[in-house]
Amino acid sequence: MSHQLLPELTHIPSSIASVSDYEPYARERMSTAAWAYFSGGAADEYTLQDNLASFRRYGLWPAALASLQNATTQTELLGQTLPYPIMLAPIAYQAMAHPQGELGTVLAAGAMQAHMVVSMQASHSIEDIAAQAHSPLWLQWYWQRDKAFMRDLLARAHASAYQAIVLTVDAPVNGVRNREQRANFTLPAHIEAVNLRGSSQPTSSHGAAGTSPLFGSDLIKYVPTWDDLLWLVQHSPLPVVVKGMMRPADVLRAQQAGVAAVIVSNHGGRTLDTAPASLDALAAVVQSVSVPVLLDGGIRRGTDIVKALALGAKAVLIGRPYLYGLAAAGPRGVAHVLHILRAELEVAMALCGCAQLSDIGPHVLYRPLAD
Ligand code: FNR
Ligand code: LAC
Repeated sequence: MSHQLLPELTHIPSSIASVSDYEPYARERMSTAAWAYFSGGAADEYTLQDNLASFRRYGLWPAALASLQNATTQTELLGQTLPYPIMLAPIAYQAMAHPQGELGTVLAAGAMQAHMVVSMQASHSIEDIAAQAHSPLWLQWYWQRDKAFMRDLLARAHASAYQAIVLTVDAPVNGVRNREQRANFTLPAHIEAVNLRGSSQPTSSHGAAGTSPLFGSDLIKYVPTWDDLLWLVQHSPLPVVVKGMMRPADVLRAQQAGVAAVIVSNHGGRTLDTAPASLDALAAVVQSVSVPVLLDGGIRRGTDIVKALALGAKAVLIGRPYLYGLAAAGPRGVAHVLHILRAELEVAMALCGCAQLSDIGPHVLYRPLAD
């Protein structure tokens, strides 16, 4: 049984001009429960909202008469060239949004030459996703208590040419997902985290939170620690990136543990409600480490990307925007979302007088004193 209520858009209407325009088209193609899962955040959703609001707390200074000869958005990351600094963040269970699920997303990523971070809770196997890939893939990782299982999955990722392992550290337990609870969200029977078959890990990252005691449960016994990060760095044949760190001291310790990059993120406001917006955590984190720092959470406009880069991010990841593109229009929708953001980034750079990403710095930011 599919959750899709309306067929995918066969052509993209002109009413979809910005990435947020996909939202209503996505919503009407999902059950109320699936919509609560994909769009919702934790508890009162302060962090979810603040991820968006944080970008509005900065303005951008327009530049006069800047030369834009040889303008480019190209950058380098972990030895790879990115034509533009926008990646796809890991989102679980994409087959619940569109029948092609991650297999649709990866086609769009390839067509648009964007890196994709595949969720460990993807609804297709990492091999099937890799078989459709035409751009670099990273594999997002949740710590599993079964080390033999992890070694096997690391070897599978390496064999399928994934290029990095992204350990998510901000969701050792589920957030308080009230929106999901109110909508009675449970995973449909045909949707499964197929890559976790055979893992003995108690599941924490889906379903309604707060229904059984957490402390004293198996879940708490197996939350990852700094020693586990060291284990992963030692045993991974691929560079390890950490996702979901917000505190400078944590990021510094992660760098000392040997991570290759850091993603400043609050999981799209889905874990600790009232955590700061990612953008507000970024500047201090960047000053603490020398490894590349990426950001996700609330990116909806090219100007948001300029602001993140001005505060020190090397690149950004998007979550819900491309998921909504997928739900509304399949791979074409995902590609269109990337296209819109890339085009908006170029416009914003041109108007701020930045011909290269390295020209973007704090000098482009305008911060009203009233804030
Ligand atoms: C996520 N995110 C996430 N992160 C992760 O590390 N592993 C995962 O499996 C998932 N799954 C997931 C599902 C859904 C429905 C959402 C909305 C988010 C978090 C995601 O990678 C990213 O941090 C945020 O989505 C970024 O915020 P925006 O772009 O959605 O505002
Ligand atoms: C979520 C988990 C899967 O945010 O990371 O739903």
